[in-house]
Amino acid sequence: MIRKCLFPAAGYGTRFLPATKAIPKEMLPIVNKPLIQYGVEEAIEAGMDTMAIITGRGKRAIEDHFDISYELEHQIKGTSKEHLLHDIRALVENYTFTYTRQKEMKGLGHAVLVGQTLIGSEPFAVVLADDLCEGEGKGVLAQMVELYKKFRCSIVAVMEVPKEKISKYGVVSAKEIEEGVYMVSDMVEKPSPKEAPSNLAVIGRYILTPDIFEILERTEPGAGGEIQLTDALKEQAKNNMVIAYRFKGKRFDCGSVEGFVEATNYFYEKFKAK
Ligand code: G1P
Repeated sequence: MIRKCLFPAAGYGTRFLPATKAIPKEMLPIVNKPLIQYGVEEAIEAGMDTMAIITGRGKRAIEDHFDISYELEHQIKGTSKEHLLHDIRALVENYTFTYTRQKEMKGLGHAVLVGQTLIGSEPFAVVLADDLCEGEGKGVLAQMVELYKKFRCSIVAVMEVPKEKISKYGVVSAKEIEEGVYMVSDMVEKPSPKEAPSNLAVIGRYILTPDIFEILERTEPGAGGEIQLTDALKEQAKNNMVIAYRFKGKRFDCGSVEGFVEATNYFYEKFKAK
């Protein structure tokens, strides 16, 4: 039903400098796996088969990661280490990875618009790899695809966030229509705690209908002088075409050092238990 997943991955990752000087932040590992691979696995679990990655200058390591490495494969073939490449090899063999470059950093909305060339005119998912999610029962995107089947409109994943942290997020004004499912009427990007219409913050998982592209084309720069996806979604919301979904599971903010360390500790426990 939803075949393609867009990964905006052109950002500089300044919060992780100097680590991200020559390495894309999406390639920083949580234990032994780069952040973006967690997102790709989540998309595959949700039934998607094409990963559309928005890159930029200095991001070639992402393309190399999702490709064959002949020399490495040759070196470890038949050794006890061969199994370590098993998962990534299966991804490379069975799924399609497409790329385009965002030449200027003009915001998340702009990055999504750049992706139109890879998506075409079908509904698609968006994963911000910084937000590492572990769904309860099934992955967060898989939960959202279920909901899409019912509502056939854009869907944003939300979580409750304390007031003092709300200004880091896009925030929805919404009415609960089923447990954990809200009809969105308005949205605001990075509001002050006073302006925030609720405590429901958007996290980096979206399902978008393709009319979003035409809206983004005419979306003016908003918060921080950037073209905001939130502002385009707000237009869809005015026509009752956006659902907010309080997902079941955990989310780590790996765009911050604190969240990154928290995710590392959490996934290390699982890694040890294997
Ligand atoms: C982006 C979005 C914001 C969303 C957040 C989730 O912001 O613009 O609406 O709440 O991701 O992580 P960024 O974190 O890129 O500033």
